[in-house]
Amino acid sequence: MKLLQRLFYKKRKFYGDDFDWENYTDDSYHRRITSDIESKYSAIVDQGQLHFDPVTGTVQSHGDDIHPNHLLILEIIGQLQLKSVHEVGCGGGDHVANAVTLYPETKVTGGDRGATQLDLALQRHPELKGKIGLQDITMPFSHQWPNPELVYTQAVIMHIHTAVSHLVALSNLIRMAQNHVLLMENIQCHNFVSDIKSLHEGGHLEWKTLNIYQVTGSTGANAILLSNQELDYPVLLSDSEIRSGAKPSSRRLKRANEDSARGIFGFDQY
Ligand SMILES: C[S@@+](CC[C@H](N)C(=O)[O-])C[C@H]1O[C@@H](n2cnc3c(N)ncnc32)[C@H](O)[C@@H]1O
Repeated sequence: MKLLQRLFYKKRKFYGDDFDWENYTDDSYHRRITSDIESKYSAIVDQGQLHFDPVTGTVQSHGDDIHPNHLLILEIIGQLQLKSVHEVGCGGGDHVANAVTLYPETKVTGGDRGATQLDLALQRHPELKGKIGLQDITMPFSHQWPNPELVYTQAVIMHIHTAVSHLVALSNLIRMAQNHVLLMENIQCHNFVSDIKSLHEGGHLEWKTLNIYQVTGSTGANAILLSNQELDYPVLLSDSEIRSGAKPSSRRLKRANEDSARGIFGFDQY
């Protein structure tokens, strides 16, 4: 490696992740919220704008549309009638705030490894004071982390590629959650299904029973739902199943395979 490249490489704090999370807000996140989300959708919903219909299990907006991915998260919270929910990697806090608005009876919290993200979240949603906290999901498990019924992530694990951190994160998400984990992630960035199965078979997961489902929102978004309960959703058997229909990105799939290959699961006796 050339000297300049080596210097640049060493200056990077996270060698494999897609972003340096300390600089992420200034870098691109704020821009993404305003250009990708707020230009087309309601990022922050008003009181009374959303309604969950328990008969159809859907969330309807009486104002601007909600991004399909965000809508699915809210629909799952309603369908499972959850009393407590936590978002890991909550960034600017919009999903936490919207869940609080739609489900005032549900205890909703959020964690993020970036103090700048949490500052942005409080700027956008001062009412989240006391509901959000600093948390790195790739750290060894902490008993101080919330222990809700469902933990969810959106666009978090897909960006983690440092060593085996994404596997640590997946096992931590499951240990944090009493019953369910919802992964709203780009399903080409990791082999989520096979990685989770390997973690389970290798004895890395807190739950004895693991069911893997594919959930689909009323406006077409897909996500992976893990549960220690039997639920009435389509069972998801493989990564290729959830990837079917998506235009393959050979770069992402190659990196996903490299990430999986770094895992040493269980204890193979010699
Ligand atoms: C692409 S943003 C998504 C933010 C939010 N979930 C959303 O959909 O708008 C990724 C977020 O994950 C956070 N993050 C990255 N690695 C993390 C980790 N190890 N533990 C907790 N949060 C993390 C980042 O700081 C950032 O706020």
